[in-house]
Amino acid sequence: MGQTVLLFAVLCSVLLYAETQFHIGRKIQFRKVAMCPGQKNLPILFDNVVFTRNEYGATTSMSFKVYVKKQVEKLTMSVSFWKCEDYEHADSCEYFLKDYTSTEICEIMGRKNQVWTIFMDHFTMPKECPIKIGNYSLNQGPIYEKTLNLLPIPNAYWKIKLTGYDGISNLYLSCVDMEFEVHSRPKS
Ligand SMILES: *[C@@H]1O[C@H](CO)[C@@H](O)[C@H](O)[C@H]1NC(C)=O
Repeated sequence: MGQTVLLFAVLCSVLLYAETQFHIGRKIQFRKVAMCPGQKNLPILFDNVVFTRNEYGATTSMSFKVYVKKQVEKLTMSVSFWKCEDYEHADSCEYFLKDYTSTEICEIMGRKNQVWTIFMDHFTMPKECPIKIGNYSLNQGPIYEKTLNLLPIPNAYWKIKLTGYDGISNLYLSCVDMEFEVHSRPKS
């Protein structure tokens, strides 16, 4: 359980805090957040993804809309990470983490004082299951450098595939592809 929460925390920091510079002079730059190809008919759709960047090109906030077309009883998420050398070599990547699954999303999404709490506070979706049919939005989910400093993520070009299931009905809910770059900021 502790390990699951930690991994979920790391994941949320990466995925949701969209992100920025580290105190050690690193930044995260999102290149892509989109539904997986050919999956426009799933029960949960993401749309209107918008990033805000600062003068260094680092992502500082993220907004998107989520359309929930079927009630979700128990959200289960599975994630895979690929690590690529850099953006130019984004077709030659290796698995970093394969099909990591968490069945505890409903239980932990409303917790206070977690790294994802601030993100959930900017999200209009109620922080509990079942997740009701409706349209929700993340409005400029902000970035916190302090949180990002905790991430054990090396400089690289990263690809993530996130899939959602209903843990009760086993219904396949959604699939999202993300790509982002973590690199050191040149000294100015
Ligand atoms: C959600 O938004 C979509 C696209 O704008 C719209 O077609 C749909 O009717 C909306 N659903 C609800 C429940 O408001």
